[in-house]
Amino acid sequence: AKDFTILGIESSCDETAAAIVSADKSIHANKIASQIETHAKHGGVVPEVAARAHLDMIDDVIAAALADADMTFDDIDGIAATAGPGLIGGVIVGTVAAKAIAAARSIPYYAVNHLEGHALSGRLCSDIGFPYLLLLVSGGHTQLLAVTAPGTYHRMGTTMDDAAGEAFDKCAKIMGLGYPGGPAIETAAASGDAKSIRLPRPLRGADNCHFSFSGLKTALATKLAHLGGVQTAPIHDLAASLQAAIADCLADRTKRAMQIFATQTSTSHTSTTNTLVIAGGVAANKAIFARLQTEADAAGFQIIVPPAKLCTDNAAMIAWAALERHDQPDQLDFEPRPRWPLDP
Ligand code: KG4
Ligand code: ZN
Repeated sequence: AKDFTILGIESSCDETAAAIVSADKSIHANKIASQIETHAKHGGVVPEVAARAHLDMIDDVIAAALADADMTFDDIDGIAATAGPGLIGGVIVGTVAAKAIAAARSIPYYAVNHLEGHALSGRLCSDIGFPYLLLLVSGGHTQLLAVTAPGTYHRMGTTMDDAAGEAFDKCAKIMGLGYPGGPAIETAAASGDAKSIRLPRPLRGADNCHFSFSGLKTALATKLAHLGGVQTAPIHDLAASLQAAIADCLADRTKRAMQIFATQTSTSHTSTTNTLVIAGGVAANKAIFARLQTEADAAGFQIIVPPAKLCTDNAAMIAWAALERHDQPDQLDFEPRPRWPLDP
């Protein structure tokens, strides 16, 4: 029998995406139509603009995914869509399209939590088992979670204010580097000196696993003003110093989580190596990855980082999250959830 195959749809933020994935982890198609150019004009995502763009693109993106996979709807056994958390307009566009296809084709429908997509993406690109420690770092979330099974998440830490990606985006805006901020800062930082400008490391050494980034943003704005603003300040040095500060914070808080995770799981599972999975758009940052790699080596954890196309928002991770429980579909009246924590 051929492997169960799911068409996944993602539309909770600024990418309209469709992908086709089978239970044996083959990714037949992974299409992403980005709205970055549309949103760059506004310096960020405008929800109403995003919802209209999703509506414009969704049919074409699904058709393109089927064409890439050289498949028709006859080859699709189930359909999954992000049902939250995220911008409600986009989520409605994606879930309504998915439900219509599911009803017309009489195939199961899966309402997927976007965060669960990120959380399980490490299993789509590797053969790691449970449990593992997850650092989820995106534009909307910065969390440390212990993942013990699909659907079972224990939140160990979260941000008290901004998400790490949000800190990159807001600081890039302050420095005139454009949107999205993460890649812009990483590029600028490449030719800057990370030790040149002193910035704080919020919560470093704290006993818990929480994060805080808004103080960093304020500190950066203050330094920038003292250095004469964007016209005269050494932007590359500021970018490098900021990236190092964010990397240090992520590494320090993750180090604490690895200590706790290792103690908690040492008695409860037999696997010899502990695993840290890093997911979400910020995981694409090479300096941050290098910093976390050092910390993981010291703690005896192996690191899994999905390739960039599976780290930033995509629909393959949504199809995969549904495949992890393909014998448990959802009802067609499942309501979209603008807020939907993994560990309520
Ligand atoms: O996971 P994602 O694609 O979307 C969600 O937020 O769900 O993450 C987007 C975030 C943005 O804040 C973006 O600035 C950040 O990830 N990002 C990066 C890099 N690439 C994307 N941050 C730092 N360095 C990067 N190379
Ligand atoms: Zn995301």
